[in-house]
Amino acid sequence: MLNIVLFGAPGCGKGTQAQRLKEHYGIDHVSTGEVIRGHIARGTELGRSMESYIAQGRLAPDAIVIEMIAQYVAAHKEAAGCIFDGFPRTTVQAREFDGILAQHGLKIDTMIDIRVPEEELVRRILVRGKDSGRADDASEEVIRGRLEVYRRQTAIVSDYYAAQGKYASVNGTGTMEEVFARIVDVIDAIANS
Ligand code: AP5
Ligand code: MG
Repeated sequence: MLNIVLFGAPGCGKGTQAQRLKEHYGIDHVSTGEVIRGHIARGTELGRSMESYIAQGRLAPDAIVIEMIAQYVAAHKEAAGCIFDGFPRTTVQAREFDGILAQHGLKIDTMIDIRVPEEELVRRILVRGKDSGRADDASEEVIRGRLEVYRRQTAIVSDYYAAQGKYASVNGTGTMEEVFARIVDVIDAIANS
C-alpha cells in the first residue's frame, strides 16, 4: 500500500509526475482539479456550482472537495495505493482526510512537495494555456492569483505533514525525467525503510 500526497504550487508538475508514478508503481491517481473540471464539462449541478471558483483561480469550498475525496476513497479502497494530486489544499482538508482514510484502515505514507521558482511556474502555465482549454490558464492575472492563493492558503499544509514526520521536498526544475527520478528516490527510500 502506497498513498502519496503530491503537493506543490500550480504548474509545478503534479499531474505530469502523477501520471508517471501511477504507471511505475501500479497505483491509482486522483486529481481534485480534474474531478471538478469533469463535472464542469458534463454540466452537472456540482460542476455549475464550481465554475466560478475555478475560472477565478480560487479554492472550491472545503466541504464539497472533502466529500468528493471521501467518495473516491470509499470506491477505491482495494487499490494498491494512490497518488492524491491537488488534495489536501487546506489544513481543514488535511485533518478531515486523515479521518476519512482511517475509517478504511488507510493512511498517507508521505507528502512530496515539488518545488519550482515562481517565474518558471508562470512560464509553464502560460505555455500550457495556449491549448489546454483550462479557464484558469487563460490569463496571467488569474495564474498569478492562483499562485497567491497557494502561498496564502495551501503552502501551510506542508507543516501538517511535517509534524507527522511525513514530508519530503524535491527540486522540481530540470527535465521531467530528472524530477521523476528524484521522486522515485524519495518513495523507494520510504518503502524500504
Ligand atoms: P488543479 O487542477 O489541481 O491545478 P493546480 O494545482 O493549479 O495545478 P496544475 O494542474 O495547473 O499544475 P500541475 O502541478 O498539475 O502541473 P502539470 O503537471 O500540469 O486545481 C485547479 C483548481 O481546482 C484550483 O485552482 C481550485 O479552484 C480547484 N481545486 C482543486 N483541488 C482543490 C482542493 N483540494 N480544494 C479546493 N479547490 C480545489 O505541469 C504544468 C505544465 O508544465 C504542463 O504543461 C507540463 O507539461 C509542464 N511541465 C511539467 N513538468 C515540467 C518540467 N520538469 N519542465 C518543463 N515543463 C514541465
Ligand atoms: Mg494538475
